[in-house]
Amino acid sequence: MKVDLPVTPDGCPEAGPVGKRDRARPGTAARRTGAVFFPVLLSGCTGPYSWLSGAGREAEIAEALFWPMLWGAAVVWAATVALALYAFRATPDPESAPRIKRLILWGGAAVPTATVAVLLVAGLLALRAIAPADGAAQVRIGAEQWWWRVAYTTTEGPVTVANELRLPTGATTTIDVASDDVIHSFWVPALGGKIDAIPGLVNRISLTPVREGEWGGICAEFCGTAHAQMRFKAVTMPPEAFEAWLEAQARPAEPSALEIHAEGLAVFIREGCAACHAVRGTAASGVVGPDLTHLASRDRFAAGILPLTPEALARWIDDPESLKPDVQMPATPGLAAEDMRALTSFLMALE
Ligand code: CUA
Repeated sequence: MKVDLPVTPDGCPEAGPVGKRDRARPGTAARRTGAVFFPVLLSGCTGPYSWLSGAGREAEIAEALFWPMLWGAAVVWAATVALALYAFRATPDPESAPRIKRLILWGGAAVPTATVAVLLVAGLLALRAIAPADGAAQVRIGAEQWWWRVAYTTTEGPVTVANELRLPTGATTTIDVASDDVIHSFWVPALGGKIDAIPGLVNRISLTPVREGEWGGICAEFCGTAHAQMRFKAVTMPPEAFEAWLEAQARPAEPSALEIHAEGLAVFIREGCAACHAVRGTAASGVVGPDLTHLASRDRFAAGILPLTPEALARWIDDPESLKPDVQMPATPGLAAEDMRALTSFLMALE
């Protein structure tokens, strides 16, 4: 039976209102149940957080294991249900005892052992295929409560950005993941990568994007109050575009923008923002919080939870705690309206 579901812009079925109760029509209950559960079931099928997007070689390897396991499990389930139904209805026959023993031995021991052995070998081969390379990592990711510090290794030194991971397609990027506070877990489902960020350890992962696009990244390990608000964006792009982007990120803030927004920069320094944030090309060189040199090149901030607009920036600066519980950034209450305008205009100009 084909079920047409309303679809959201990212292609996922949308949960809609369930129809009115209609006792006269047979099968309504089943349809109603389907209408409720189908969208829930299918909501994981696509979108920026789906690991079935096939955006990376590592995700494809996991997917190649997933489908045979899923269909294999479906066959085992159907066979088990069929046998159970048969057993309920069959008349006991003492003559069949040896056949039952054989069935238990094969179906309960031999076949499961063989299946698990095959899966173990396939899993080990998949692990070997996605094992990261030795040598220096191209990207170092620091997971912090509650944002992501992303540092690219370049010949001119590290280039640090926040909450955005850009990778060239068709190439394998080696990423070292670490944490200085608690355990987090770095995960871009569409690219197949998931690895824990553990204090005192450096864990390594390799990602090989095969498709261009924008994908969702999340923290996959409960790490405190704002764990669910620790998101980032992964962008996979052609190698030339990636190089151009990295080059632009390596540059200091545009001098003309600093000149035009000198008043906002003065507020930024005076209010103490520079103690935690860096804006390269200015006196602001804090390393506690995100590097804001090219903040306006991103479309969201505060680890993906807010769109980058002057209004959202003002709300965040005024009282970040109200938007992200236990956030380490202090509030700036009572900032004069004209100072806030100058400050947000300055931040919005950091392209
Ligand atoms: Cu970081 Cu959960």
